Amino acid sequence: MALKKLVAGNWKMHGLSADLSEIEAIATAARDYPNVDVALCVPAILIERAARAVPGFSIGGQDVHDAEQGAHTGCTSALMLLDAGASLTIVGHSERRDAQRESNEEVRAKAEAALSVGLDVILCIGESFDVRERGAAVDTVTAQLDASLPPSLEGEAELAVAYEPIWAIGTGKVPTGPQIAEMHATIRARLRARYGADGTHVRILYGGSVKPSNAGEIFAIADVDGALVGGASLKAADFIPIVAAAAAVEGQGTIA
Ligand code: 13P
Repeated sequence: MALKKLVAGNWKMHGLSADLSEIEAIATAARDYPNVDVALCVPAILIERAARAVPGFSIGGQDVHDAEQGAHTGCTSALMLLDAGASLTIVGHSERRDAQRESNEEVRAKAEAALSVGLDVILCIGESFDVRERGAAVDTVTAQLDASLPPSLEGEAELAVAYEPIWAIGTGKVPTGPQIAEMHATIRARLRARYGADGTHVRILYGGSVKPSNAGEIFAIADVDGALVGGASLKAADFIPIVAAAAAVEGQGTIA
């Protein structure tokens, strides 16, 4: 069964007040593709203004702290994201796993904290180039996934997993179709092993150098239920063709 595709933008550390008009342009154009879920994960400080500018459109955070509140200078709790108008958050992006030394256990705690207040979660995993070269990508990503997933899926909030090979992020390099298919099938099997039938409904996104030129091909691969898009999500002119590519693939067969 094909899941409704989710195309989420990760604006990373980009976005000022002047860019709210771009968010508006994306939200307006996305309405033409009701068969695709579209979201933008913006810097925490922009969430409230973005959510006010585009009511009804999904605005998300890029990280969350696992504690409800407390002495955590500079951090943002799940309730704060929700309070600002976010409906989802990314957790475990490789840039945070690397620069902030986030462990799988922390990522899992963050995912649980977000889901518990009703925020949808996009949980990121992915291997380095060295790991891929050594032929250890599937084993490494499987171990990362198993250790990062929340123990159970309860409540209304939705979990999605984003497979983002680190070597494909911002490089213009993309794994081959069979490499993406192999990894997504592995992730699906692990989700089923963890959550039973519910694991069938968890969307698995691909991320890493998704562009208008390659999106259609990527979305046609089995178990690719959407994309997490970095650079190409900053401008409606790049992002909306990716949404359109997801819409075009909906209802068509996928390639195993
Ligand atoms: P790019 O699309 O810029 O490669 O970034 C991918 C990414 O890291 C999204 O989270």
